[in-house]
Amino acid sequence: ASAATPQALNAAAAPAAPAASKDVTILYGSQSGNSAGFAKKSAKALQENGFNVTVSSMSDFKTNQLKKVQQLLIVASTHGEGEPPDNAISFHEFLLGKRAPRLEGMTFSVLALGDTSYELFCQTGKEFDARLEELGATRLYDRVDCDVDFDEPAAGWLKGVIEALNASASAGSAVAEAAAPSTASGIAVESSYSRTNPFRAEVLANMNLNGRGSNKETRHLELSLEGSGITYQPGDALGIYPQNDPALVDALLEATKWDPQALVTVNKNGETRALREALIDYFDITTLSKPLVEKLAQIAANKEAFELLDAANREKFKAYAHGRDLLDFIRDYGPLQASAQDVVSLLRKIPARLYSIASAQSANPDEVHLTIGAVRYEAHGRERKGVCSIFTAERLQPGDTVPVYIQQNANFKLPEDPSAPIIMVGPGTGIAPFRSFMQEREEIGADGPSWLFFGDQHFVTDFLYQTEWQRWIKDGVLTRMDVAFSRDTEEKVYVQHRMRQHGKELYAWLEQGASFYICGDEKNMAKDVHSALLDIIETEGGKSREEAENYLASMQQSKRYQRDVY
Ligand code: 2AM
Repeated sequence: ASAATPQALNAAAAPAAPAASKDVTILYGSQSGNSAGFAKKSAKALQENGFNVTVSSMSDFKTNQLKKVQQLLIVASTHGEGEPPDNAISFHEFLLGKRAPRLEGMTFSVLALGDTSYELFCQTGKEFDARLEELGATRLYDRVDCDVDFDEPAAGWLKGVIEALNASASAGSAVAEAAAPSTASGIAVESSYSRTNPFRAEVLANMNLNGRGSNKETRHLELSLEGSGITYQPGDALGIYPQNDPALVDALLEATKWDPQALVTVNKNGETRALREALIDYFDITTLSKPLVEKLAQIAANKEAFELLDAANREKFKAYAHGRDLLDFIRDYGPLQASAQDVVSLLRKIPARLYSIASAQSANPDEVHLTIGAVRYEAHGRERKGVCSIFTAERLQPGDTVPVYIQQNANFKLPEDPSAPIIMVGPGTGIAPFRSFMQEREEIGADGPSWLFFGDQHFVTDFLYQTEWQRWIKDGVLTRMDVAFSRDTEEKVYVQHRMRQHGKELYAWLEQGASFYICGDEKNMAKDVHSALLDIIETEGGKSREEAENYLASMQQSKRYQRDVY
């Protein structure tokens, strides 16, 4: 949790220099932790280069200090459909709003993290970058936009920024020349296993939590961390590198008539693999992003592919790409007039999928557990399968190993005070981090009251981890539990209906300092739960809408309102 507090990192052996040119502020806006992590790495690298660095989450930064900042670095990811991450919302609103000050004296640079599979790629970073310029600040180094595999471009940005900062520092004085780190590996990493160097964890157990006859399949996966030295906290997530569905790869090979055994290069070091294996293990074949279609259109036999990219009709691409993949494109616009090697070198690496961890390490020292909903649906005349969830549900067996890493999440943490009350809302797989919370609170003997809202379709088949909750209720680890089974009754009941039913008590808990957590579906559930919470604060607290919003905003500011939504 210390990750969220602003830290002043003072260089130990910084040469005496004019304060103005050696002070750098780094602000990050991070949802899953990548921006936070890279901002801290950048701080360290700058510090080693003799800069005085202040690094802080945007939500912890006092906006009235902005005018005093002379050199600003922003590391911002984009969330959902082009939105800023939770801990960037207030700063984003401030900077893009009318109250933002003129910033003529400032130089800045933006690193934008994003995902090319989304339409509004790196939108938040782009907005910060354009707005800082508009406010009169000078770009120190050009913005860099990164896809999910961000390490290389981000390291390039950092190197460029350090060189630019050094240049402007030495322009102001005769400071000794400081060296920029020559490579990304020059930047210290916390543990030996990471996103770029994942640990191969053995599967200990893999079972379906739903009963016979359920509409759902929710996997409980237990992985061994033995010998890895990996540590994690409740609220953190686990990244898994999945393999593509061999049946999909075979369909692609059939459609393209490519030789499955032909060797292709799979990375920058020039390593080669047989094409079929490479398509299963290395390349993302399920994301049809705009940058990819731009390249594919050039080599497609059917030149109507270019119509998808018609700038006058942005909706066309979106409508086509939705629910379609590389195989659809090749069937619709192929054959591709290029070799297998040329095509695969257009593909990005399979990105890792993040899952909220369902166990506490204090209770399971060498294990990590996940709760994964199997994703299957029909689209455009074909059965579609979620890459990682179906890899887990259909192919991952006990004894197999799978590459994983921990993604810390400072934005979803138990209160430091074990006596503080907590309210947890986690329908469906949103239950995962709360199992971790309960394991942790049981293990450390925390006496804080806790209240869980859980929902799913049917009591009989879908009450995930039912016996565990019942035991925790019995043992007093869990104080209270309200459930909403949406399809057992004529009229649907959801978690937010249960919240409203018990609004008075819920508000009393908030008044007693309870932290409120939401995990699960973002688009519908989390939005509805948010408005139920506002309504409860308004009604039970006798407040106006605006006062209720301020109440919730201040809970958010003090980290008593946290969301882990997807
Ligand atoms: P449904 O499938 O019957 O619509 C976990 O998936 C649970 O969340 C299910 O019971 C599901 O109900 C429910 N759910 C669906 N939409 C929701 C929403 N907007 N708010 C809260 N729960 C929702």
